[in-house]
Amino acid sequence: MKLSTLSLAIIAIFMASYCCFAVPARSFKDDVVMENEQVLDPSGPMILRWTIINETAEIEIEVQTNCTGWMGVSFGNGLGFGRPGALGDAMIGGYDDELGIGYIEDRWIDLSVLSEIKPGGGEYDDHVDVFLKSATYQEPWSIIRYRRSIDTGDSQDVVIRPGPMLVIWTYADSDNTSIPHHPDTPGSSQVTFFNL
Ligand SMILES: *[C@@H]1O[C@H](CO)[C@@H](O)[C@H](O)[C@H]1NC(C)=O
Ligand SMILES: *[C@@H]1O[C@H](CO)[C@@H](O)[C@H](O)[C@H]1NC(C)=O
Ligand SMILES: *[C@@H]1O[C@H](CO)[C@@H](O)[C@H](O)[C@H]1NC(C)=O
Repeated sequence: MKLSTLSLAIIAIFMASYCCFAVPARSFKDDVVMENEQVLDPSGPMILRWTIINETAEIEIEVQTNCTGWMGVSFGNGLGFGRPGALGDAMIGGYDDELGIGYIEDRWIDLSVLSEIKPGGGEYDDHVDVFLKSATYQEPWSIIRYRRSIDTGDSQDVVIRPGPMLVIWTYADSDNTSIPHHPDTPGSSQVTFFNL
């Protein structure tokens, strides 16, 4: 699905009007407190939380979505859609309640040719730099937490930079990551993970 200028504008309006979205209380057997939060998709909803840890060397990220399948987020490398070299550093993860296990995949997306983005979301990285910490399904929420380096040193990843970054998001009703995402997604948001 293409992200038209109109749909991006609509997303922006939704983002602005949902800034004070109420978030359900959750508890995790985990000592990292999520310090930041942004609603990516108010209609899912899909919520992104994060904390910069270890003196900005690493980031822990939580994704919570009203979906039963996989969730994907992709960080842009700063080159616009359709520009040569435009890269999305993607993660696909979720909780498979049939198997009772969480899963995560490190992916990358060529954003220089939008029409070539595959339904499941890009190619597998040669080296895995995302580490699943926890995954759960608490109806209706799929929730995963993972950790990665701010700069993984992998050319198939994107360094998390200060200031606004493009985040493309999507999710699905299936835990099979080869099955296309929900028809109403993807969308995109600007997320400031940290400032200088
Ligand atoms: C923090 O980072 C250092 C080096 O970058 C590493 O050796 C150490 O294990 C990290 N500590 C934690 C708690 O992740
Ligand atoms: C989750 O999605 C379902 C189906 O769209 C909807 O009926 C329900 O209200 C949503 N729940 C929350 C907490 O957003
Ligand atoms: C996942 O979906 C793909 C594409 O539909 C299919 O070929 C594959 O067999 C599925 N895998 C599982 C484990 O169901």
